[in-house]
This record gives sequence, structure tokens and C-alpha cells, in this order.
Amino acid sequence: MTDSDLILVAIDARLKAYAPYSGFRVGAALVTEDGRVFTGVNVENISFGLTMCAERVAMGCAIQSGASKPSRLAIAADSKNPVVPCGACRQVLAEFNPDLLIVSSTLTGSTQQFELNSLLPLSRQGILE
Ligand code: THU
Repeated sequence: MTDSDLILVAIDARLKAYAPYSGFRVGAALVTEDGRVFTGVNVENISFGLTMCAERVAMGCAIQSGASKPSRLAIAADSKNPVVPCGACRQVLAEFNPDLLIVSSTLTGSTQQFELNSLLPLSRQGILE
């Protein structure tokens, strides 16, 4: 699946976001090494702090489905610039692939690519070595 196709999946998933507090809907689509695609949306909560981002929901969906390692992640939001995963999501994604490739897109087609290891460097160094 190309990055463009993956972005389309994220854009479609985004429609199911539960974002009554911010009104900011985010969709994510994650490809795993076995070729499967898992989607996620942000799921907000009245406590605000318990809100789950689309990226983490997609990652959890892949794990609970027994998927293999994630290789690429697409994110879609109706923002001026492509969104970048928050710190908590970076850490959770790095648990499963510190070298994950990420492409983020706005609804008007502005895209940006990242490598997770640049967004969260040295995520494993010194731990359990
Ligand atoms: N959000 C995501 O789901 N992913 C991001 O990468 C950026 C932020 C959500 C969290 C919250 O529901 C809303 O967007 C506003 O921050």
C-alpha cells in the first residue's frame, strides 16, 4: 500500500473520531509487516487527561489483533500543517518499532514525513541492557 493510499485510509477513519470537546478529529492508519492495516481515531474524555490519540488507538488495535511489527503510520487531520504525534504516542509507538516511518497529512493534501527515531531519539539506550 502506498503512502497516498494509507493517508486515504486515515482520512476515512478520521470520520469516526470521538472529539466532542476539541472538535479536532484525527485519523490514523498503521501498516504492519504482515501487510495488515489497522486504523485508529482520537477518543476524547470529559476528564481531558484520559483522551486517547488516534495513533495510540491504532497501535493498540494492531496489538490486540495479533499483528506483527508496525512499519508505517499515516495520520490525517483538518489542520493547517500536518500534525506530529505527541510525546506519549511517540513513546508507545517506539515500544513496537523505534524506526517506524510516519507520514502526516492535512485534508488539503499537505504532507510531511518523519522517522520516529528522529522524533524520539535514544528511546531504548541504557534500559534493560
Ligand atoms: N490528537 C491526536 O489524536 N493525534 C495527534 O497527533 C494530535 C492530537 C488529538 C488529541 C485530542 O483529542 C485532539 O487531537 C486535540 O489535541
